[in-house]
Amino acid sequence: MNQSPSAPRQTKLLAADAVGIAEAAELLRAGGLVALPTETVYGLAADATSGTAVAGIYAAKERPSFNPLISHLPDLASARRQGLFDANALALAQNFWPGPLTLVVPASPGCTVSELARAGLATVALRVPAHPVAHAVLAAAGRPIAAPSANRSGRISATSAEDALADLGGRIDAVLDAGPTEVGVESTVVSCLDGAPRLLRPGGVPREAIEHVIGRPLVIAGDAGHAPISPGMLASHYAPAARVRLDAEAPQPGEAWLGFGPDGNDDHPQALNLSPSGDLREAASHLFGYLRRLDTLGPSAIAVARIPEQGLGEAINDRLRRAAAPR
Ligand code: TXA
Ligand code: MG
Repeated sequence: MNQSPSAPRQTKLLAADAVGIAEAAELLRAGGLVALPTETVYGLAADATSGTAVAGIYAAKERPSFNPLISHLPDLASARRQGLFDANALALAQNFWPGPLTLVVPASPGCTVSELARAGLATVALRVPAHPVAHAVLAAAGRPIAAPSANRSGRISATSAEDALADLGGRIDAVLDAGPTEVGVESTVVSCLDGAPRLLRPGGVPREAIEHVIGRPLVIAGDAGHAPISPGMLASHYAPAARVRLDAEAPQPGEAWLGFGPDGNDDHPQALNLSPSGDLREAASHLFGYLRRLDTLGPSAIAVARIPEQGLGEAINDRLRRAAAPR
């Protein structure tokens, strides 16, 4: 804190108890950077209302500064002070908050989220996370908290305090450790701007569940000539160092294996199975951690089994395609 955003600093490991939560909130209120747990992934949190604090996020992540960030709030009432909710946005918030859904809505006249966190846009991305520790920190901080995933830009999202520390140790003030995250992929991002809700990023709430609530299909950003308006749609993202080969039947010599379901490759020396029983929720929760673990073995490539494109499979395949995209 009170240092230049990129100055080296001692990173404290805080326990997710009352003392740790109070200290995390205090650091955030003072403009510091704290990696904290949500139900999706760990977030690199800062006071969203402070341009200086938000600049620290971009510096620590080495993130291109044109990416707008999600602002996190403890409840719908505080979210409605920041953004204008149409009928679709309200229905989605009421059904899925707290939970792994982000809504992009017009910023309200009284919106306090900084220009930098919104990347100068007239819209704001809002999320009320379900994790009790995140909720406690947000309530104590008493202001919107910007938090992209707690990893260096372009790397695999952090789903544990150890992963966050490995990427950001020495660059941030603290990591609040509440163990591994439950959902394992980031929130679904939906914009509600012109009456036609759009899917900007598949994530922890399956598209089918959202369409059920709004009573019609989502417009998919990037489809049908729509330009990708969310930078999270950039192709190469979530990249391990190793090349990634998708829809594989079996590993080739030198390759590590990321399996799904009972596939018979489990005795391969560099194999991990996202879910031996073929459960997509279990697979999502393991995805980033297993990619990181296989990557550290230094394989020629990570071969990945085919994942069904339904429910959470859509978000898993989205992240895998980005990991496999040419860089
Ligand atoms: O699960 C999550 O969402 C995690 C946890 C920590 O909450 N956070 C996260 O934040 O993934 P971040 O900043 O990595 O992702 C933000 C996504 C990007 O796809 C970004 O482009 C989009 O939200 N976004 C933010 N503001 C936007 C806006 N005004 N218009 C369009 N897209 C926006
Ligand atoms: Mg990210």
